[in-house]
Amino acid sequence: MNRKALGGVLVVLVVVAFLAIFLPVYLTQGNDAVTPPPEKLTPDQQFYKDVKDEERFDCYPDLDVTPSKKLCEERGCFWKPATLAKAPECFYPLTYGYQMTRLPVNTDLGWEAYLSRLDGVPSRYGNDVMNLKVEVEFQTDSRLHFKITDADSPRFEVPLVIDKPNKQPSDPMYEVSYKSNPFSIQVRRKSTGVLIFDSSVGGLTYEDQFLQLSTKLPSKYVYGFGEHNHQRFLHDVDYKTWTMFSRDVAPVDEWNLYGHHPYHMCIEERGNNAHSILFLNSNAMDVTLQPSPALTYRTIGGVLDFYIFLGPTPENLVTQYTEAVGRPAMPPYWALGFQLSRWNYNSLDRVKQVVKEMRDAEIPMDVLYGDIDYMDRYMDFTVDETNYGTQNLSDFVDDLHARGQRYIIILDHCIGKEVGYEAYDTGLTQDIFIKTPEGQVLEGEVWPAVNASVYPDFTDPSATPWWTSLCDSFHDEIAYDALWIDMNEPSNFVAGSQTGCEENTINNPPYLPNILGRIMPDGKRGLYDKTICMDAKQHLGNHYNLHSLYGHSMSVATHEALKTVFPTKRSMVLSRSTYVGSGAYTGHWLGDNQSQWRQMPWSIVGMLEFSLFGFTYTGSDICGFWYATTYEMCLRWSQVGAFYPFARNHNGRDWPAQHPAAFDDAFSANAKKVLEIRYKLLPFLYTLFYEATTTGTTVARPILHEFPETLGMNLDRQFLWGASFLITPVLEEGKTTVEAYIPNARWYDYYDSPGKEVDPSLRGTTAVLDADLMTINLHIRGGFVIPFQEPANTTVYSRVNPMGLIVALDENESASGQLFWDDGESRDSLAKEEYVLTEFSVEKASGMGTLQITPSITNYATTLAFETIHVMGLKSVPTTAMANGVPIQSQNFQFDDDKKMLTLTGLDLGIINSHTVQWEE
Ligand SMILES: *[C@@H]1O[C@H](CO)[C@@H](O)[C@H](O)[C@H]1NC(C)=O
Ligand SMILES: *[C@@H]1O[C@H](CO)[C@@H](O)[C@H](O)[C@H]1NC(C)=O
Ligand SMILES: *[C@@H]1O[C@H](CO)[C@@H](O)[C@H](O)[C@H]1NC(C)=O
Ligand SMILES: *[C@@H]1O[C@H](CO)[C@@H](O)[C@H](O)[C@H]1NC(C)=O
Repeated sequence: MNRKALGGVLVVLVVVAFLAIFLPVYLTQGNDAVTPPPEKLTPDQQFYKDVKDEERFDCYPDLDVTPSKKLCEERGCFWKPATLAKAPECFYPLTYGYQMTRLPVNTDLGWEAYLSRLDGVPSRYGNDVMNLKVEVEFQTDSRLHFKITDADSPRFEVPLVIDKPNKQPSDPMYEVSYKSNPFSIQVRRKSTGVLIFDSSVGGLTYEDQFLQLSTKLPSKYVYGFGEHNHQRFLHDVDYKTWTMFSRDVAPVDEWNLYGHHPYHMCIEERGNNAHSILFLNSNAMDVTLQPSPALTYRTIGGVLDFYIFLGPTPENLVTQYTEAVGRPAMPPYWALGFQLSRWNYNSLDRVKQVVKEMRDAEIPMDVLYGDIDYMDRYMDFTVDETNYGTQNLSDFVDDLHARGQRYIIILDHCIGKEVGYEAYDTGLTQDIFIKTPEGQVLEGEVWPAVNASVYPDFTDPSATPWWTSLCDSFHDEIAYDALWIDMNEPSNFVAGSQTGCEENTINNPPYLPNILGRIMPDGKRGLYDKTICMDAKQHLGNHYNLHSLYGHSMSVATHEALKTVFPTKRSMVLSRSTYVGSGAYTGHWLGDNQSQWRQMPWSIVGMLEFSLFGFTYTGSDICGFWYATTYEMCLRWSQVGAFYPFARNHNGRDWPAQHPAAFDDAFSANAKKVLEIRYKLLPFLYTLFYEATTTGTTVARPILHEFPETLGMNLDRQFLWGASFLITPVLEEGKTTVEAYIPNARWYDYYDSPGKEVDPSLRGTTAVLDADLMTINLHIRGGFVIPFQEPANTTVYSRVNPMGLIVALDENESASGQLFWDDGESRDSLAKEEYVLTEFSVEKASGMGTLQITPSITNYATTLAFETIHVMGLKSVPTTAMANGVPIQSQNFQFDDDKKMLTLTGLDLGIINSHTVQWEE
């Protein structure tokens, strides 16, 4: 144990002993002689007497039973009616759980201790773990790790490797203390003394299939946990339970969805500092928030494994979290272009027609998708010879490539069972399919139109070469550019398997988190609705533990496979199911599945949450997936979607066409206009992706991350690109104005390329901005330099266009920014430093504004140049300007007095060289 912490504990013990001896004496003497002496209550009796409703931790969360006093007391818990409607009547005493058996001992990184189960605490569901080991590791100044495991036998642990140092950090931002009986752990932020973790609230339970730990929270400002359809970014702590367990279902309610992210951020009220907590566990779990504020983790397997990150800013947390779990993957440049997809184009002719309509309307588009209808009977690595044809599809993909476009295909997780089908035959030979406990290949049913589907086990190391070889040979037939992997929760259209599941405690655990489908059609309680049996065997153990890791393991395998398919080029993976750390391998679309107005704002919440989870490449299906969109909805969705880091319009089967050229000329023109803004800003967006992959900053960023004073305002209908570009979409029907919070800074309207300063009196207020049907409000923050490039129909063509800079001055007429530029697709351009990195900095001194362009890395040869520079927010009228000491001709010098904007044109400032541009005011 850390010496300071030990010292702290000793002080606490001495003080407690002192109070225990003298406080009763003091109280007795201080009281009036006629009052009766205070009752001698045990701490638990006192707690029972005084407990406030919101301080109770639920001892009867079971959904299938209505607790009674008797049932409650059988669990060793207290029963007391509550006033608050949602407060539990059955709650834990403080004396519950485990006690430390001897003093902790120091280890290289911290300390470890042993616990034993307290006598007299009744067993809940059986198989109590009697002895626990606690390991506390001070991993970095901002990262604490502690883990509680079974001291006597190993249990499943998530196979995610988080590197740790070999010695303790010099000046951790936190200190750790504990109480020994009952055992609890406290983590405090040193700078403010705020307790950010404190499990001394009772209820610590460690049974084979029920593990629970509660902690007080320092504030009610909680964000994260996923994947759910959270309608707001800020959580409601009024007894909300969020369940995590990967699941194939449309995100239309608050149930558990595709991914599993037991990670949240909390902003402490005192000091406005942010911390975050990863509960590294993959079993089906509930997380309950309550108003005290506090939260309870309840999981049905694995170990209690926590990482706490200390920030102190929300952006620091993403940096620290992705340092631990993996920085987000860097997509190729083209993957930032607009993408189009639908399920059931149904024929290559229809695909060609849609692509032609898009070209004719001159709407920028980089990528077209093949959903499962390109396949023969929905089998991976096949082509429908009737409606597509391998040769014709291949020719079509070559034609896309010739025009600067790309093709991405979907692959499902499952393999159709058919002898003679290569993926099936080789998978059988190589023994990589998931098995039943009896050792048979588990058979379920998914899309493949054959008798059964089988499930590759991507946790088996031999599955990756098998998958790689299939992906690679299919690429020889259809030259796809990236892979979209779907249904990998893993989905199964029959419960468990074609023969159901055995009834046992793995398939039917005694405690069932509040997962969707937890009650089986036959009335049995089970975990395997819409997926495979939990006792199915995988290389790393039971599916029970690995279920929520299926999509992650498939993402890793696909990421690996693409290294063989494209040895020198960057490709990308787009996965529906994800877990902690998946952002290093894959992007994620939110499967935001319905064409409904109410779903559009949720897509922003989803993106912001995935930013916290360490993903950069996110967005929802523009215009919605299920149901028919409307003209206005699809137009508004196209506007906001143009600013999703991953911008794809994707439509479901049988719904009317919704690609941007499917409506009328006005629609097409507006889609073209907003996408051209996106394309124009791609150098800036790409630079944000570079920053994210190297330092872990976010791309789609909550306003809260930049403007901490907005805490409590829950601004989740607007979002930022990086620190400096504010997007304020219209998300409601029939509106021609939008309420926009104007964060406290100088802002400039993007429009009129670019434009006028936002009235300073609006800063820190919610303004009503005009937003006619054809307008999405976009603003640039003063203090930043944003690189741009003239748009084109695809990124292949935009990447050769002239570049420029938007300089948005702050109050002091300064600004800064950077540009990352490489060939956009070399796999190792970052590792080999084959890129250009250029810094921009603007200062004003003695009547001169000076922009310095300073490349720090120039290992990529390019003749691209900055040709136009806009300087916004000048306080006086500039008269002359110079580039590298050469005066700029008057025809290339324009000052717009209304906007206070200087525009310099006709420049030829190579992006790999240093330059100085000055203007005299
Ligand atoms: C949700 O949308 C995704 C994305 O296209 C699709 O693959 C999936 O089948 C949909 N899920 C449900 C349950 O509708
Ligand atoms: C492939 O293209 C040829 C030539 O256009 C056409 O005749 C044939 O029907 C197409 N095959 C399919 C499967 O679409
Ligand atoms: C984009 O424009 C280029 C050059 O004008 C042209 O060659 C190419 O075919 C166009 N691509 C698309 C997809 O329209
Ligand atoms: C402007 O300069 C002042 C004085 O140096 C500084 O306190 C302030 O933070 C600066 N403003 C901005 C927006 O950087």
